[in-house]
Amino acid sequence: MSTLNEKAKEGMDDGAVHSSGAGGFIILFFIIGFAASMVLGWVIFPKLLYSQKEQPLNFNHALHVEEVGEGCESCHYFRDDGSFSGIPKIESCVDCHEEPMGDTEDEAIFVEQYIAKDREVPWLVYSRQPDCVFFSHAAHVIGAEMECVVCHGHIGESEVSRPYEYNRITNYSRDIWGKNIAGIKKNSWDRMKMDDCAACHKEAGAIHDVSVQTERGHCYVCHK
Ligand code: HEC
Ligand code: HEC
Ligand code: HEC
Ligand code: HEC
Ligand code: HEC
Repeated sequence: MSTLNEKAKEGMDDGAVHSSGAGGFIILFFIIGFAASMVLGWVIFPKLLYSQKEQPLNFNHALHVEEVGEGCESCHYFRDDGSFSGIPKIESCVDCHEEPMGDTEDEAIFVEQYIAKDREVPWLVYSRQPDCVFFSHAAHVIGAEMECVVCHGHIGESEVSRPYEYNRITNYSRDIWGKNIAGIKKNSWDRMKMDDCAACHKEAGAIHDVSVQTERGHCYVCHK
């Protein structure tokens, strides 16, 4: 009886050891599989989905904001008709850069390839929206007195032009659909999709006289 019991116990112990070994393997496989799919989903997939282009040359915002007289407005200003000048044309640069002032490679490219040949620099616009979207800087910057940083982040203080990233399938700039693949938004400038525009309009609608108070707003506000 007792021996039988002991045998049974041994058997049980054996079984226990055996099954915990298999369980360990299963957990290990699970961890490896999980890690692999995380790498695939969070590292490889975004790399495949997004492609990069370098700007034609580096533009140092921090340096220039110090050099010019009126800060951002020296280059990004509103015309008399209320339209926004956007990225400056070389006429805003030529007074200083007729000849190179320093000896950096980027300035040499700029003066030789663009200023000397009277060609505009084909800058890539990080915040470019699809053609169907209507956006007005005057409504936001003048009307609602918003700071550039709310939508663009700290580009105005940067020393280097980061690469332009775009979605290979939709061609959207990464600044529109957001840097975080899981859709997490920490700063107001992390993303500028339709629902991001609409979320602020919904809040602002209560204060400002805009026809945007409904859930997404009237389509014609942003799509002409
Ligand atoms: C000397 C002219 C100059 C001044 C001054 C200047 N910028 Fe710019 N800005 C540029 C040029 C050139 C570009 C295009 C190159 C680039 O994107 O880095 C640009 C691009 C930008 C963009 C990128 C828009 C996009 O979506 O691609 C933002 C945002 C911007 N500037 C904000 C600012 C702010 C804010 C200030 C003031 C703190 C400022 N800039 C001052 C010349 C200037
Ligand atoms: C008020 C004068 C002024 C204006 C206007 C100006 N720059 Fe400059 N820029 C400078 C100075 C000063 C430097 C630094 C030169 C040095 O010592 O290397 C510089 C440097 C540069 C460089 C090299 C910096 C680097 O990061 O390597 C580029 C490129 C450049 N400017 C482009 C532009 C463009 C594009 C515009 C017009 C949108 C412009 N600049 C307008 C004064 C100016
Ligand atoms: C952080 C807040 C905020 C964000 C983000 C925002 N807006 Fe606005 N928008 C406003 C406010 C406030 C007004 C009203 C300005 C006024 O009445 O003077 C406005 C006005 C407008 C108007 C003019 C509407 C009218 O009836 O005059 C358009 C068009 C517009 N926004 C489009 C957009 C688009 C497109 C986006 C996203 C790319 C966007 N907005 C993102 C706050 C925002
Ligand atoms: C409410 C959000 C918002 C604010 C505030 C805002 N911008 Fe923009 N900006 C945008 C959007 C959206 C675009 C893209 C517009 C498009 O695709 O037609 C843009 C485009 C630009 C461009 C590129 C335009 C071009 O086509 O050449 C520059 C430069 C720029 N913004 C600078 C600024 C500066 C400087 C300020 C502050 C004075 C500012 N923005 C404030 C949302 C904003
Ligand atoms: C507050 C501004 C705003 C309002 C209001 C708005 N949209 Fe949009 N819409 C956008 C922006 C910005 C985009 C581009 C970014 C994106 O795809 O999210 C867009 C993109 C779209 C697209 C995709 C277009 C493409 O080329 O990928 C469709 C379709 C669309 N909107 C339909 C609508 C309809 C229908 C309504 C009314 C119920 C509406 N929108 C109201 C701002 C707006």
